[in-house]
Amino acid sequence: MMDPVPAPEFDRYAEEYAKLLDDPIRRKFAGETAFFFERKWELLEKYMQRIGMLPEQSSWLDVGCGAGELLRLGSARFANAAGCDVSTGMMKACEGLHVVTQTDPSRLPFEDSSFDLVTVVCVYHHVEPAGRPALTSEIARVLRPGGTACIIEHNPFNPATQIIVRRTPVDENAQLLTARTARRLLSAAGLGVDQWTSYFLYFPQKMYRKARGIEALLEKVPAGGQYAAFGRKR
Ligand SMILES: C[S@@+](CC[C@H](N)C(=O)[O-])C[C@H]1O[C@@H](n2cnc3c(N)ncnc32)[C@H](O)[C@@H]1O
Repeated sequence: MMDPVPAPEFDRYAEEYAKLLDDPIRRKFAGETAFFFERKWELLEKYMQRIGMLPEQSSWLDVGCGAGELLRLGSARFANAAGCDVSTGMMKACEGLHVVTQTDPSRLPFEDSSFDLVTVVCVYHHVEPAGRPALTSEIARVLRPGGTACIIEHNPFNPATQIIVRRTPVDENAQLLTARTARRLLSAAGLGVDQWTSYFLYFPQKMYRKARGIEALLEKVPAGGQYAAFGRKR
């Protein structure tokens, strides 16, 4: 008899997800979780402006969309937007969004060349290193020529990030990856790696409005709480 397919890890966490992320350092950094998604959305907008991508004429896929927080912020700006995740439990919170369950962690349930932008936010550190190249190849497959893949991840060089990850229950199996590793994954999947890797989340929510200019100056310093790495399909 074949072994049963294990339930996706995040189905276990879905009901109490927000509670399980709670951490004193995280709480001090930002009173509301929304801040972390707003920062990512701001960064994506900046990137799209930089490369001349018009979201209203573009399609967006958020891989490992979880509860859909980022999709909720940005969906209305795109011609169409979708999410997918292996955990149906996590996507129960995605009411009103176009989301599709992934039955296979290394296969995206979309046709070739369907999207102009594919984001993967805080997903790779939950994927075994051996499974990462296959997922990245899938991302390259569903991108249109000229489309962009964006990997956003926790920065293992940031000590506060390390502490939070070490004591967050949903991260018990997490294996963080550096921006260099993320760029290598993009490159190995045949994508052209953009030199514009951006480190962000230096200043807490309370200081960010005043410190945003300084944070922009620090974006090349590999010390922010998270980073974004970009690859373009040729
Ligand atoms: C930490 S959560 C992040 C969710 C969301 N991206 C966010 O930033 O809030 C990680 C998510 O990745 C999903 N995931 C893990 N491995 C995946 C894979 N191979 N393909 C798609 N989703 C995956 C999990 O089910 C979970 O919902």
